[in-house]
Amino acid sequence: MTTLHGLGISSIALMIFAATLTRAQENLPAQPTKERDLEYYAELAKAPEKARALKNPLESDPDAVAAGRKLFEGHCAECHGNTAEGGKNAPSLRVPAVQEATPGTLFWVLTNGVVRRGMPVWSKLPEPQRWQIVSYLKSLGPSQTNSSEK
Ligand code: HEC
Repeated sequence: MTTLHGLGISSIALMIFAATLTRAQENLPAQPTKERDLEYYAELAKAPEKARALKNPLESDPDAVAAGRKLFEGHCAECHGNTAEGGKNAPSLRVPAVQEATPGTLFWVLTNGVVRRGMPVWSKLPEPQRWQIVSYLKSLGPSQTNSSEK
């Protein structure tokens, strides 16, 4: 009986220990690991087929990238970093997950945001401006220091 009792206590202690560990992991700071990166960009996979297939109407507009950069610096840089390399509050947008997303997918994410995870809705920005930002994002390509390795 004593041994059983002892066992009971240690397995309870083990369970508490495990629960504390799990909680500590959930509270890790925003420094992305690979798994966290996947979580960050999960929303991109949720874009409906129709939204995904939308073409960027400004694709061949030579001024769209520059205009998009200005908009990005004004609206997005505070979280995503000046050149979209990622910041304290938001992930890099130079990673393959974003760069390989279709323009329509990026437009959809901008329009809807990921509010519960801290990414605001940008539906109040006029559509042409949202497309300019998409043009800018697509012009970036992955950074030299692969930020998904962080
Ligand atoms: C207040 C901070 C903040 C601002 C401002 C912000 N974002 Fe984000 N953004 C986030 C966060 C946090 C995430 C990660 C959301 C998640 O975990 O899915 C994110 C995610 C994204 C993603 C990846 C989509 C995904 O699956 O999460 C894109 C693309 C993006 N942002 C683009 C932009 C653009 C473009 C702007 C400017 C118009 C912008 N963001 C402004 C915080 C911000």
